[in-house]
Amino acid sequence: MAAVVPVWARALLLVDRAVLSTVRLAALVRTELLLAGLSTSEREAVNAAVFSAEDTYAPGGPAFAQGLFAWERETLATAPFPAAGRVLLGGAGGGRELAGLCALGYDVVAFEPAPALSDALATVAAQHPGARALRGAYADLVLAVGGGGGPLAALVGERYDGVVLGWASLSHLTDAGERAELFAALRALAPTAPVLLSYLGPDDDGRANGRVERLRAPLRRGLARVLRSAPAAEGAGFVPGAGFYQRFTAAEIEALATAAGYDVALHEREPYPHALLRPRA
Ligand SMILES: C[S@@+](CC[C@H](N)C(=O)[O-])C[C@H]1O[C@@H](n2cnc3c(N)ncnc32)[C@H](O)[C@@H]1O
Repeated sequence: MAAVVPVWARALLLVDRAVLSTVRLAALVRTELLLAGLSTSEREAVNAAVFSAEDTYAPGGPAFAQGLFAWERETLATAPFPAAGRVLLGGAGGGRELAGLCALGYDVVAFEPAPALSDALATVAAQHPGARALRGAYADLVLAVGGGGGPLAALVGERYDGVVLGWASLSHLTDAGERAELFAALRALAPTAPVLLSYLGPDDDGRANGRVERLRAPLRRGLARVLRSAPAAEGAGFVPGAGFYQRFTAAEIEALATAAGYDVALHEREPYPHALLRPRA
């Protein structure tokens, strides 16, 4: 005879489901309130604080310890990425890519906005004669290239043979205008440099599944109506350990690159979404 699930076990599982749904609902409401209520620069200030508290990216942390990922190594070894020269590295965290790039023989000029990580980055850069580190965000690069000075002004006027946008850092630009400005600035600053970028793909967190998730779109629309603002973009989100982020489809990445004057030389979804862009002549 088949065993019957005891009443107490059934009750426990029901309570467990209710608790999980409540936690998911609270996270969803938190995310939507934050997305609706904060400006782009406020979101970036939150991200800097969130990443400053994440020592996984600094020396001694598990992400740093991995060194360059296999897909990064393969892409760096793929034309048109240069085999040598000076690389501009943004969203550099605590220096994981900087150390890896220096070990491959590149000179590296790196920047990172989160204060604690940029301190770690400076320490790592000091151990590599061909490396330099600055504190700053992509918006600061745009400002500097536009002649407005700022913390990354020293990056302007140098020659770069390649550009690396650090692991998924592009996904922390949640404003479409800011992303377009970044690529225009890269094109102006380093007109012949291929760009390696990586990003969060559309299915990375399985958000599209689940009953609670169905409340997201109406809540987003409702908040936008109340605040008389545009609703947060499809694919925008927030998680406590990684701050605000934007998920992209492959087509969105290719449209962004093409509009800025790049051809897509390589674009892979696995094991992590990444692309190599070649500046159009
Ligand atoms: C997933 S972490 C990767 C860190 C480092 N590249 C690594 O692989 O270890 C994403 C990085 O993007 C940076 N980031 C977030 N927003 C940024 C922005 N607006 N401009 C530049 N970097 C940003 C974060 O501070 C963080 O260091």
